Amino acid sequence: MRTKTLIATLLAPAAVQAGLNDLAVRAGLKYFGTALGESAVNSDATYASIISDKSEFGQLVPENGQKWDSTEPSQGQFNYASGDITANKAKANGQLMRCHALIWHSQLPSWVSSPTWTKEALTAVMQSHINNVMGHYKGQCYAWDVINEAVNDDGNWRDSVYLRTFSTDYFPLSFKLAKAADPNTKLYYNDYNLEYNGAKTDRAVELVKIIQAAGAPIDGVGFQGHLIVGGTPGRSSLATALKRFTALGVEVAYTELDIRHSSLPASASAQVTQGNDYANVVGSCLDTAGCVGVTVWGFSDKYSWVPSTFSGAGDALIYDKDFNKKAAWTSVSSVLAAKATNPPASSSTAVVTSTKTTTFSTITTVASSTKTTSTAASTTTSAGGPEQTRWGQCAGLSYSGPTKCQAPWTCQYQNDWYSQCL
Ligand code: G3I
Repeated sequence: MRTKTLIATLLAPAAVQAGLNDLAVRAGLKYFGTALGESAVNSDATYASIISDKSEFGQLVPENGQKWDSTEPSQGQFNYASGDITANKAKANGQLMRCHALIWHSQLPSWVSSPTWTKEALTAVMQSHINNVMGHYKGQCYAWDVINEAVNDDGNWRDSVYLRTFSTDYFPLSFKLAKAADPNTKLYYNDYNLEYNGAKTDRAVELVKIIQAAGAPIDGVGFQGHLIVGGTPGRSSLATALKRFTALGVEVAYTELDIRHSSLPASASAQVTQGNDYANVVGSCLDTAGCVGVTVWGFSDKYSWVPSTFSGAGDALIYDKDFNKKAAWTSVSSVLAAKATNPPASSSTAVVTSTKTTTFSTITTVASSTKTTSTAASTTTSAGGPEQTRWGQCAGLSYSGPTKCQAPWTCQYQNDWYSQCL
């Protein structure tokens, strides 16, 4: 008996932390996902292994492979080699795929962007592109970003070959063409800086209304979430911006989340602030009925578009360059776990308030425990007293619920405020 116990102890896995996607689903979201860097996944085994873990990332989106310059670099010559990297991974791992992006002024080959088109000729080009690309991925995309970044930061419509040719009529046109190509995927408008709820957000609201008024289908709005540490709006302000769109009857999601440090190296307190900012973004999605998920734009600081675009800035993601989980990871995990455990009470109260050194040996943030411990519905009672079910909270500061877990789950430390049956 003693030998058996010893062997079991020796074979017991090291403490396992719940994956972000598992927590997100438990908290009521459809997914927690990431962009997939096409070259990183083929060259870096650690990267490939983490991104293939569905408990961590339940949804993938190609960082570049489905854009026009990849899929139709020359007119009528379609190439899906790069886009299929993500599609094949998602299929193999049972992950959802967001698909990105069809009508966008950037990464658009010059054979499309340079000529002056008639409306008829450009419509035919768009229809061919949309039919071919959406046709190739038909049935595989949870959602498609049909139009990307059609609004300038100052709130004016963004200049592009599409705007010059159609004025705003290309908004409903694109969505109608997309609906005809694949009627069963969600059709999204996707943009950045909508989070600040200013002139750009106003204009994006108008864009949705233009599409709806024309009788065209639009299902969602993607908040890209390319944000800055210390400059990220608070949780309720973020939720207010999201709710302007759900009020129009569309769903919303964070589609490209990263929160960059303006200068490097990031101090310990800047890392804490980054964690708080991440928690506020994810929390705002949890607070918004109709916010379906959060996607980070890559997960490791080893591979990110940020430093090449914003000189001196970076470290915007939730894993560091060596694939260690950062304070931001713990912060996201905590805010999801709080909601997963106490769906009604925690949604508006879980805020990150303090710092703590954890087993990750980094400064990390933790969720405050202002929520009530309304876990009774998910517990059972055995001869030995109440037992928590899988995922349920089993310990933590201010926690007074069951501390035993149903077999085979064990109570595993996440942070001082939160241990979980896993
Ligand atoms: O593939 C070529 C390679 O053949 C060539 O040798 C190399 C030389 O520079 O360039 C490679 O292409 C680069 C491509 O990423 C793939 O790595 C492009 O130069 C580079 O501009 C491109 O950057 C991408 C950027 O979109 C383009 O606008 C970033 O990786 C990608 O993260 C970024 O993603 C966008 C979203 O799609 C929309 N929202 C904003 C977001 C960040 O900019």
